[in-house]
Amino acid sequence: MNAEDLKRAAAEKAVELIEDGMTVGLGTGSTAYYAIKAVGRLIKDGFDLRCVATSLQTERIAKENGIEIVDIDDIDSIDLTIDGADEVGPYLHLIKGLGGALLREKIVAAATKTEVIVVDSSKLVDRLGTKSPLPVEVLNFGHTHTAKALADIGCNPVLRTMNGDAFITDGGNLIFDCGFSQGINHPYHLESKIDSIPGVIENGLFLDLTKKVIVAYRDRIEVLEK
Ligand code: A5P
Repeated sequence: MNAEDLKRAAAEKAVELIEDGMTVGLGTGSTAYYAIKAVGRLIKDGFDLRCVATSLQTERIAKENGIEIVDIDDIDSIDLTIDGADEVGPYLHLIKGLGGALLREKIVAAATKTEVIVVDSSKLVDRLGTKSPLPVEVLNFGHTHTAKALADIGCNPVLRTMNGDAFITDGGNLIFDCGFSQGINHPYHLESKIDSIPGVIENGLFLDLTKKVIVAYRDRIEVLEK
């Protein structure tokens, strides 16, 4: 199996958890993409699903696959969300946001009863922050000061760019990708320190939000549960 096959296998395994009548959160990224396509097939087969998108990109892909998107503010809760991740660490703690959608992804995850993460085995780490930087979404106003405050807590914040310009999120904000040279030792403590910095809108640590992680290896699928 190549890398795309692994992503598809994990995503399609997660879609097996969807039941007729559910409200479903659709994640963002190249692995969640395969879940969106499979959800489109379920709907064509007659499943009655209400779907919420975690990004404008996901909303567009969903529509291309015949999925109608409902506004998150028009529903009470989401039964099941299928999303990707950039790192999966101990206790199913995650780093997310390399795709730039961490803010909506976290709002959707918090409103979800069963958050299911789909990854290939390359995303598993013993300590968060060892393979991926930690994305932090910040307000444009005063962002150089926000960056200094982020650096003061012991990371190297790098403004994310795209085609030479600052990357702008769906919410109109900026992202600093924060590198931790030794990884992240105390994620709860770090999260509260980051969140206390003025100008920070959201961070890419997803702690205690995940119920299951579906991991595709070359020869098998494993399901990690809390
Ligand atoms: C989007 O903001 C991210 O949180 C994605 O979920 C993450 O980058 C995973 O994407 P891939 O499945 O493309 O690796």
